[in-house]
Amino acid sequence: MKVIHTVKDLQAELQACKDKKMTIGLVPTMGALHAGHISLVNRSVAENMVTVVSVFVNPTQFNDKNDLLTYPRTLKEDCKLLEDNGVSYVFSPSEKEMYPEPDTRVFTYAPLDTVMEGKFRPGHFNGVCQIVSKLFSFVSPDKAYFGEKDFQQLAIVRKMASELFPNLTIVGCPIMREKDGMALSSRNARLTPQQRTEALTISKTLFASVEYSRSHSVSETYQFVVDGIAANSALKLEYFELVDGNTLQGFTNWEDTNYAVGCITVFVGEVRLIDNITYKKN
Ligand code: PAJ
Repeated sequence: MKVIHTVKDLQAELQACKDKKMTIGLVPTMGALHAGHISLVNRSVAENMVTVVSVFVNPTQFNDKNDLLTYPRTLKEDCKLLEDNGVSYVFSPSEKEMYPEPDTRVFTYAPLDTVMEGKFRPGHFNGVCQIVSKLFSFVSPDKAYFGEKDFQQLAIVRKMASELFPNLTIVGCPIMREKDGMALSSRNARLTPQQRTEALTISKTLFASVEYSRSHSVSETYQFVVDGIAANSALKLEYFELVDGNTLQGFTNWEDTNYAVGCITVFVGEVRLIDNITYKKN
C-alpha cells in the first residue's frame, strides 16, 4: 500500500494502473475509520483491481467550526487498517493541495439538498459536492462507494455523478451497526460512556418504529419516533422525517411510496448523530 499526498503523484500512479487496464474503486472518507468505512473498502477491494481510499477532513463541508476542530484525526491507525484490508493507495492530501485557491463552485440539487441536513447545515452539501467532484476528477474511478448511513449525501452524490460523471457507477452500501444496534460513526468516539448508553435510544426507537408502522399510519409512526426520543432527556431531536428514498420528499400514506425511509438527527450533548431506517422498499 502506498500513502500519497499530492494530486500529481496520485495521477502518475493511477495512470500506470489505467495503462494496464486495471479497474479502480474509490472510497472517499474523512478518516477516523471504523467497521462502517471498512465495509465500503471491502466491497471496493472485492469489485476492483485497485482501491483508492481518500482520507481528508474537508473544511468546506463543516458549517460548525468546533465540529471541524474536534473531528478525530487518526491517520496512522487508519493506514494500518487500510493496509490490512487490501487497499492499494491512501490519498491523504493537505488542505492546500485540495484547495490551492478557494472553491467558488456552487452545486444545487434542489429539492434533494434543501431538506433535512440541507436545512440544518446550510452549505454542507455544497462542500461535499466540491470535494467529491474533485476526487472523482483526480482519481477518475470506475466505481465509487458511499454509505447509506449518510442517506441524503448518497442521493445527492448519485445525482451529481449522473450529471457530471456519467461513466462512473455509484455504489450504495448498507449501514453497519454495533451489536447493540447503534450506527457506527467517527463521532461516537466523542461520546462519554454515559452518553453512549443514552444514544442507544436512537436506534432502538427507529427499530421499534418499523414494527409499530405495520399497524399505524405515517403520522402516528412519525409521532412514535418523536415521542420515543423526547422520553430520553439526554437527547435533543433536531429532526425526524419520513421521506421517499429516491426523491427525499415527504408522503402522507404508506401507499404513496414504494421506498419509505425515516431519517433522524439527534444531539447527545454536543455530539450530533445521524441515523436512518427503511420502512418499505419494493
Ligand atoms: P465519512 O463520514 O468519513 O464517511 C465516509 C463514508 O463512510 C461515507 O460514504 C459514509 O456514509 C460511510 N459510512 C460512515 N459510517 C458508516 C456506517 N456505519 N455504515 C456504512 N457506511 C458508513 O461522508 C463523509 O466522510 C464525507 O462527507 C465525504 C463523502 C468523505 C466527503 O468529504
